[in-house]
Amino acid sequence: MTDKKKIVVLTHGGAGSDPAHAAGTAIAGQMSMMSLQTGEPIIGAACHAVASLEDDGRFNAGVGSHKRNDGTVEMDASCMDSSGTFGAVAALEGFKNPVRVARIVSQSEYRVLAGRGAAEFARNQGCQTLSPDEIANTGKDFSTTDTVGCVVRSGDEFAAALSTGGIDNAIPGRVGDVPLIGCGLYAGPLGAVAATGDGEAIAMQVTALRAYQLIEQGMDPKAIVPTAIGWFKESTAFGIIVVSKIGFAGGSNRDMAWTASELEIPH
Ligand code: GLY
Repeated sequence: MTDKKKIVVLTHGGAGSDPAHAAGTAIAGQMSMMSLQTGEPIIGAACHAVASLEDDGRFNAGVGSHKRNDGTVEMDASCMDSSGTFGAVAALEGFKNPVRVARIVSQSEYRVLAGRGAAEFARNQGCQTLSPDEIANTGKDFSTTDTVGCVVRSGDEFAAALSTGGIDNAIPGRVGDVPLIGCGLYAGPLGAVAATGDGEAIAMQVTALRAYQLIEQGMDPKAIVPTAIGWFKESTAFGIIVVSKIGFAGGSNRDMAWTASELEIPH
C-alpha cells in the first residue's frame, strides 16, 4: 500500500472581507496546493497563496493595500515554517508582493527588515515594483478589510504567511502584528496559525503563539478558533485560521472570506 501524505491549505482575505470574494481565497489556496505538488518547500507554498491575495486587489494587501493618512502605502508581510525559518518586512513601500520580499529575508542573515532598508534590499533582490498607477489606485474600495493570510500542512510540516497594508488612514511608520513573530503568525512542529484584525490588540495578546500553545495542549482547532476570538472585545476586529495534526478551522468576529482545501498525495 502506498504511503499517503495529507496536504491542507487554508487562506483568508482578512477580517471584514466580503465572503462573496471567497473565489479569490480559493484561487490562492489552489496556487499553494499546486506548488506543494511540484515539490516547492512548504513556506514557499504559503507565500504563493499570499502573493495571489496581494495581486487580487479586493483585499487589504499588495495592490489592494490601504493608504496612510498622507496618501502613501506602507506594507508589512511575514512567513514562518515549522523548521524555525522566519522572515518579515515592515513599512515596505513600492513593491508588488511584500510576502515574496519577506520570503527572501527568511533566507538571509536577517529576520525583519523595515522601511528604506527593506526597500533597498527588495530592489537589490530584483523584486517587482508597483507602478505609479497601481500605487495611486490601491485600497480604494475595501477600507474595512484587514491582513490576508495562509496556513499550510504538508505531512508533518507546517507553515504560515501574512501580508497587509495596515490600518486605513494610520500615520506613516505605524506597524501592527504582521511582522512580529508569535503575534500575527506562528508555525511549529504541531501546527500553524495566522491571525487578522486589529494589529495592536493582536500583538498585545501575543495571539498566534498562544493559539499555538493550545495546539500543543492537544486542543482541536475547531475549539481554538472560538477560544481565540473570545480573547478580543466584540468591537475589536479579529479573525484566525489554524491547522494542526488533529484538523483545521477558521473564523472571525466579522465577515471573512476564507477557504480550506485538503488532499492526500502519495508520499
Ligand atoms: N493586522 C494588521 C495590522 O493591524 O496591521
